[in-house]
Amino acid sequence: MASMTVRARDVAQEFGVRFGRVARVSRAPGRVNLIGEHTDYNDGFVMPAALDFATLVAAAPRDDRTIRVYSLFMDQTREFDLDAPAPSGRHVWSDYVFGVAAMLEADGRRLAGADLVVASDVPLGAGLSSSAALEVGVAHALLAASGLPFEPVAAAKVAQRAENEFVGMRCGVMDQYIAACGVAGAALLIDCRSLESRPVPIAPNLRLVIANSNVRHQHAGGEYNDRRNACEEGVRLLAPFLGPIAALRDVTPADLERWRGALPGLVARRCRHIVTENARVLEAERALKAGDFAACGAAMNASQASMRDDFQITCPEIDFLADFAQGIEGVYGSRMTGGGFGGCTVSLVEADAVDDVRKALVGAYRTAFGLGAEVFVCTPSDGAGFVDLGQEDAA
Ligand code: GLA
Repeated sequence: MASMTVRARDVAQEFGVRFGRVARVSRAPGRVNLIGEHTDYNDGFVMPAALDFATLVAAAPRDDRTIRVYSLFMDQTREFDLDAPAPSGRHVWSDYVFGVAAMLEADGRRLAGADLVVASDVPLGAGLSSSAALEVGVAHALLAASGLPFEPVAAAKVAQRAENEFVGMRCGVMDQYIAACGVAGAALLIDCRSLESRPVPIAPNLRLVIANSNVRHQHAGGEYNDRRNACEEGVRLLAPFLGPIAALRDVTPADLERWRGALPGLVARRCRHIVTENARVLEAERALKAGDFAACGAAMNASQASMRDDFQITCPEIDFLADFAQGIEGVYGSRMTGGGFGGCTVSLVEADAVDDVRKALVGAYRTAFGLGAEVFVCTPSDGAGFVDLGQEDAA
């Protein structure tokens, strides 16, 4: 919390000024994914950590069935009638808020109307899941304002549905899951089929270093859904040879090698990324738990190569940042994190090498691309919950 630039106290105060009542403040974090990219919608494995950057939502119930939300960042207020829900979003920021309200209701939770103030310090468009942080923060706040329990996994699924059906982005469940269920000091190994997870502690001598390329990703556009379609086509074409498979999760690297001739070349490459990535996630978990940081780093580097060559979701700026980091003393591994086409890299770094890594990356990136890169250390935080204003004041 210490690194937050948006303080819950300020958001609560803004709420008091606007709505003349006292609010409780919910918080939900952004995320960095250590490894396991595009595997979530293939029923596979991912290993993200929740960031200390988060979305804050101050909320109090109303007597009617209106949701009114003010965004500090946009300086705009929007309203939504729970009894006359819009069928889909309008490609504006409030879609994430109203989509969650509509899907909570569609999922059987009777909500009270509520006033909300939202603010966030999750960098936007950087592949760090600012939208999932907003969705899950709003779910936490609306449920609390309605006197309903926040069940993290169920809330993550509702938030994902809001993004799929209301916003119109066919994302998997990873971002919403980690925003709801993150564990301080650890990454989470999430099985995106069973929706079970287990913490993978980050050893005290390790740091997760994020470098923002400041190139904006565009996976809300066609590229993300294209990749998803290729994976689904792979399953369809492999099923006659492998029997009843539901997803690429059910295909091993050996299966794919054996039957890849049945797939168009590009589909085979897309599928190879997914099936090898699933294996790499499990290897990275094993290695981190065993203290074998070099092996974890090797899996991250192999993931980067697979995203670049087989899934083709990186870009020159990202490839440069990852390659350059991989060559620095004290860096175990480095790769792009998130949906792709820009955004951030994540590197697994020895704590005492962080300052050198930061300087080297910023300097080299400026020389190569004439662009600034922000480099920061992620302290894995907890998933959604209330902010204790007293504790924040003390920090
Ligand atoms: C985006 C999506 C996630 C996941 C990643 C890629 O962040 O929201 O569901 O698919 O891309 O791993």
